[in-house]
Parts: sequence; C-alpha cells; structure tokens
Amino acid sequence: MAIEQPATRPANPRFSSGPCAKPPTFELNKLADAALGRSHRAAVGKTKLKDAIEGTREVLGIPADYKIGIVPASDTGAVEMALWSMLGARKVEMLAWESFGAGWVTDVVKQLEIDAAVKTADYGQIVDLASVDFANDVVFTWNGTTAGVRVPNGDWIADDRQGITICDATSAAFAMDLPWDKLDVTTFSWQKVLGGEAAHGVIVLSPRAVERLESYTPAWPLPKIFRMTKGGKLIEGIFTGATINTPSMLAVEDYLFALDWARSEGGLKGLIARADANAKAVFDFCDANDWIENLAEDEATRSNTSVCLKFTDPRIQDGAAFAKAVAKRLEAENIALDIGAYRDAPAGLRIWCGGTVETADIEAMLPWLAWAFEAEINAQ
Ligand SMILES: Cc1ncc(COP(=O)(O)O)c(C=O)c1O
Repeated sequence: MAIEQPATRPANPRFSSGPCAKPPTFELNKLADAALGRSHRAAVGKTKLKDAIEGTREVLGIPADYKIGIVPASDTGAVEMALWSMLGARKVEMLAWESFGAGWVTDVVKQLEIDAAVKTADYGQIVDLASVDFANDVVFTWNGTTAGVRVPNGDWIADDRQGITICDATSAAFAMDLPWDKLDVTTFSWQKVLGGEAAHGVIVLSPRAVERLESYTPAWPLPKIFRMTKGGKLIEGIFTGATINTPSMLAVEDYLFALDWARSEGGLKGLIARADANAKAVFDFCDANDWIENLAEDEATRSNTSVCLKFTDPRIQDGAAFAKAVAKRLEAENIALDIGAYRDAPAGLRIWCGGTVETADIEAMLPWLAWAFEAEINAQ
C-alpha cells in the first residue's frame, strides 16, 4: 500500500557530502568585496589570504606555533604534498577503512613505492587503533567520508611518538574536535564542512612537521606545487598568504564569508553542536525504523558529518538498485539531492550532516525517506 507524501518539505534539499551545502545565510552578492581582477600578491589580496589563514587558526583553535598554508588542488593536493615531501624518512604505517584512505595507500605503496605497513578495515568498521606503532610515520583519515566511520578521538595517538602523524581531516575539520597536539600534518578543503568552494586545500603543520621538512629531503623529485622548503628552510611566505601559485580570490572571499558565519554560530563549538544535532536526527530515525541502519557498526565511530546508511529489509531484492531508486525518487521530488552512497562504498545512502545543514531540513527530509522506501518496496 502506498503511503502519502509528507506535508513538509526541506527548505534546502542539499545534503551532498562535497561540495557541501553553503552556509544558510549565503548569497552570491555577499561576495561583492572579493579582490577580483587584482593580483593576489597586491596588498589587498595578501591581506585577504592572511585573514583566511588567521581566521582558520581562530575558529579551529590551532596553536600559535603551528603553520597554516593555503595550497593548490584541494584536500587531495594538501595530503599529497605532505606524503611526497615528508615520507621516506622512517617506516610508514597506513591506516584505511574506506575509499579515500585507500587512495592514500595507493599513493604511498604504488606511486612512492614505500614499503609501508598497511592496516585496513571493511566499510563500517575501523582498524585496530591500539596496534599502531608510533615509532613509524602514521597516515590516516579522521573521518572516512565514504563509510561514515571516524576515529572516536585522538587518545590512541602517542604523545611521545617518534614518527609524525599525517591526518586527512577534510570531512572532520569544523565539525569534530581535533587534538592539535596529536596531529603533525592536518589537511582539509574548503568545499567540505564550511560549504566553501572547491580547488583550494589547507595544510596545517606542527613544529615537528616543520622539523621533518627542514631536516629531510626525499629521494624523488618534487613538483613546484608540492615544494614547501627552499635551501632546507621552510618557505614562510606560503604560511602567511604568499601562496605557491594563483588562488581564486572569489573562493577566498567565499571562505572568509563562511568563517564569519562560523563565528556567528558560536565558532567550532557551535558548528560541532549543529552537526551533532543533525546526525542525531538521522540516528534516531534509524533507531525508530527497522529497515535502515547506520553503516558504522560501533556507535563510538559514527560520523556526525557523512552519515552512511544501509537498507536492511529482507524484502529488498537488489540492494544497489534499490538504494539508487530511493535516492532518485528523493531527487525527483527535490527533497534530497546527491545522497546516494559513494561509488566504491556498499549500496546505501549518505546524508551530509555538517553544520551548514539545518536540522529542520534533516527532520523534514526523513519522513520523505520513509515514503520513498515504501514506494520502492511496492514498486519492486
Ligand atoms: C576523506 C577525504 N579525503 C579526500 C577527499 C578529496 O577531497 P578534494 O576533492 O577536496 O581534494 C575527500 C572528498 O570527499 C574526502 O572525503
């Protein structure tokens, strides 16, 4: 029997896991102060880039002695410049439990040909964090965007580690507490939790990471866009707004707007609370319905940003086709856009719950998910 369509619709159907919804107060005309058509090396451009760096420090609570750089090629660029610049000095341990972590394993093992210890877990699970040896350099993803599985905290990272930690935090920064004392290299992109524009990445370096850069030269060549040192010294300019190559000043303006919005929501604490409230609405929905479950098996590892769901109803004949059809129905009704599971992930849905999404929109969308599920069960 078909169920009726719910009466309420989300005001904003954007639940994509990247690029993510823009802040609720966003309007294009709010970027009118962008330094367009000006050199990014002119005072006006450099000031905006420096504001973006220091605003990042302020909102994320990054220590004063950490370096923050705006770099090319989004989060991927930031991660890869760290891998290529810093690894090879000591043994490497790679941790992966979904697609992006697996991509960093490929970079290190197949491209850099480093004989790394690789620890992997299936979608929904996480690797044995207690087994990690911090005599090694350790590369991991704070929040696995395609599995909805995150590390529960940073307690498993040794304070007295000899290696460095390289953390892809792109779907965690601005939504989760990141313990800066445990993270030597942290990366994220603007297009994720703050709903910024794509193409630019941020790399955050601890003093230990800088020490590695200044004391170690990898055996392989480094392209210009990966080079953070010159003559064995950190290129300080990169970390004060003199970017390696030309950034989009429109994207910079947009990021400055997003940082202002973050401040208006109470900064990091406010953003975490918003993501938590969004994720809780989805978790409660799963608890109330026996046909859908969180992909993350352990509650402590459940993401509050990229919440991944799987259908568990025994009546479903073809899991992948079913999940796609549900997502298509919701898209056709303009209720939820881009919520299909990532292409390499198990069949299901992925609902972005980062702070730019309004809880009221999640709450309005969920009854429609129940409607689409019923409709698809009937249509099979
Ligand atoms: C964990 C993780 N790493 C890396 C990336 C790649 O990010 P970008 O496209 O910003 O380089 C993503 C994108 O979704 C991601 O979720």
